[in-house]
Amino acid sequence: MRVALLTGGGDCPGLNAVIYAAVKKGINHYGDEFIGFLNGWRGVLDNNFIPLTLENTDGIQLKGGTILHSSRTNVKKIPGGIEKVQEVLKLNNIDALIALGGDDTQSVTLYLSEHGVPSVGVPKTIDNDINGTDTTFGFDTAVSIATEAIDRIHTTADSHNRVVVVEVMGRDAGWIAYASGVAGGAHVILVPEKDIDIDHVCALLKYNYDHGKHYGVVVVAEGCHLPEVGQVIGSKEVDSFGHARLSGIGEALAELIEEKTGFETRSVNLGHTQRGGVPTAYDRTLGQRYGLHTIDMVHEGKWGRIAVLHGTDITDITIKEAIATNRRLDQRFFDVISGLEANV
Ligand code: F6P
Repeated sequence: MRVALLTGGGDCPGLNAVIYAAVKKGINHYGDEFIGFLNGWRGVLDNNFIPLTLENTDGIQLKGGTILHSSRTNVKKIPGGIEKVQEVLKLNNIDALIALGGDDTQSVTLYLSEHGVPSVGVPKTIDNDINGTDTTFGFDTAVSIATEAIDRIHTTADSHNRVVVVEVMGRDAGWIAYASGVAGGAHVILVPEKDIDIDHVCALLKYNYDHGKHYGVVVVAEGCHLPEVGQVIGSKEVDSFGHARLSGIGEALAELIEEKTGFETRSVNLGHTQRGGVPTAYDRTLGQRYGLHTIDMVHEGKWGRIAVLHGTDITDITIKEAIATNRRLDQRFFDVISGLEANV
């Protein structure tokens, strides 16, 4: 078969591992040929691609980012976009398309598969919030990076008797805040699934100062809602899928904490460092497992489906189910957060 791959949306460590394994098994086990469209759906519209071979994918599983580059291109919003995609795929004799991306990218994959384009998906999100899969590659790396940053924040916050607010990624779900906050021993962990109770936050920090620890570390997910403000937007611009650019809740929260408690407070936004750099061993392995399963899905004709991790097994579900909703933290995780908090 002649198979095309693309990567859409925000990058994630582990994307290259998926590409590597799909290409390797496809060529060695099925006799496939591969091309990779550059810059997500944009590359399909522009007919811009590179061949993917055993030679040029050798060793990429160790590297972060995506060798295919990425963009947030909403084909459904472009007049004639779907027709153009179909035309380019036909022009290049593509028998199957593998799209690596989050719910926005996969909404296009779903649309195409419903309109006769043989396509499958691989779930990609640093936020770890795609429905139907336990873990997406890149998440473990992001948590490791955020945890290391929080570890470092402890010592400097302690030295200066300060509160430091660490802002991490997590638009609709607080998985990174939860996992790095727990691992990094944050005193306050704030996730978008719960409204921020600023009095409770201040009480937790005061507890520290009243009990011999004259500093505090707060981890907040970028998508949290600040009382009377809502989500904090970094730029008025929205992407082609209508998402505002979130950024700044850490700073806003730090000001509020300082005002209410009188404790000197600073903020740090970890931003894209969480998505950069080499994937952890876990993400390299997980990415390759997704890649192997996906090329099997192609040869089984599982169009309109997406690979998922269920427990320890890689399997697949419909893209429709995967993008129907976000996978968010529930009471089990709230209990972990509250169980580790001071009793105030
Ligand atoms: O959706 C994943 C995500 O990493 C969010 O956590 C974040 O808000 C956004 O992407 C950042 O997007 P960009 O890379 O376009 O700035």
